[in-house]
Amino acid sequence: MLESLANEMWGEPLYVDSLLSHKSDGILIGGVGGIPVETIRADFPILSERVNGRTIIFLDNAATTQRPNCVIERMARYYSREHSNVHRGAHTLAARATDAYEDARREAASFINADQREIVFVRGATEALNLVAHSFVKPYLKPGDEIMLTALEHHANIVPWQLIAKERGARLTVCPVDDSGQLMLGEFERMITPRTRFISMTHVSNALGTVMPVNEAAAIAHRRHIPICVDGAQSAAHMPIDVKAIGCDFYAFSGHKALGPTGIGVLYGKADMLDRGEPYQGGGNMIQDVTFESTRYQAPPQRFEAGTGNIAGAVGLAEALRYLRRLDMNAIERYEDALMSRLIDELRRAPGVSIIGGDEARRVCAVSFNVAGIQDVKVGEALDRAGIAVRAGHHCAQPGLRRFGVESSVRPSISFYNTFDEIDELARALRVV
Ligand code: ALA
Repeated sequence: MLESLANEMWGEPLYVDSLLSHKSDGILIGGVGGIPVETIRADFPILSERVNGRTIIFLDNAATTQRPNCVIERMARYYSREHSNVHRGAHTLAARATDAYEDARREAASFINADQREIVFVRGATEALNLVAHSFVKPYLKPGDEIMLTALEHHANIVPWQLIAKERGARLTVCPVDDSGQLMLGEFERMITPRTRFISMTHVSNALGTVMPVNEAAAIAHRRHIPICVDGAQSAAHMPIDVKAIGCDFYAFSGHKALGPTGIGVLYGKADMLDRGEPYQGGGNMIQDVTFESTRYQAPPQRFEAGTGNIAGAVGLAEALRYLRRLDMNAIERYEDALMSRLIDELRRAPGVSIIGGDEARRVCAVSFNVAGIQDVKVGEALDRAGIAVRAGHHCAQPGLRRFGVESSVRPSISFYNTFDEIDELARALRVV
């Protein structure tokens, strides 16, 4: 339905900010001729679920997003009509499954402006970051070498580096952020030493929602001949991503945070980088020839995809990425920016609420706060009683929260299917927790 609506309603992609008025009714995503949010919401069956007597208000999108019908239906169709293992040529179903899997790779590549040979399917951003650490960094790491991160990393972009640093006698350095959660780019440049071998940094902080200057960071890194990896778990579904424009060597994202299934994710690696990598895991699919003495590996990306992949997951992810592209990532970014401004305004006014990192910096998807005198988990429970889903806790980003003197926070996080009314409902609920 969305596709036909899109074709029918979207002419030239004109964007008019005034259409993003602070009312939920008739809100259009995509500007002139865009799609009303209520129409989009109808594509997501779970958004009609009732929780504690209310229609759910799902504001936990940084943890995982919900799936539109087209993704659910595409996966059902794959399992009903196309499922086999991917080994083209053996039989017709195998060819169908292979076509679907490789089509998914092309779709993932085009979503971030990469080449299909640069797309490795993984379980999620966590596995992607572990793969980069083990295949591309560890083999070149010597005692005393440094890997640079930022102060706002998710544990998935800290622990893999700690593991390989420990093994090799290397160490981590951490670029600070300022009091508003923005990367200190001057420090970033100063902290690069002749021992810095690799930089890995988040694009958007999953705890604070602040945006890191990844383009500038990549340019600085490359002036010093250091490869850089961007953790895109919190950016891929919220803004247009062009890995060539960013200039990064690797970019990782999870399917389930971009309307896709769980257990599938994407690692982009520049072709010349992938060529240099050691296999991450061994097994079927990644080999050309095996004897008991030695093995010749496939070229990338198969070299990094041992065993049977999550074929249905990749197919579902491709459908999710197509859906996002039909909505238009620029339109999504603009609509979510407007929603986020409303959310920050409401939090600023809410009694006892302090926003972690203040209210000045731009936030994408997520914002964190504490309520004076009330434990975060209690705030989360009270909101749940009002049918509102948020995350309360450390968000797998303990060092980042500690930088701001807190151990945990309440974190609402938005998607393009949220409405201004839902933000107002959160604000009302906060007044009575
Ligand atoms: N990484 C996910 C989050 O930030 C789970 O909530």
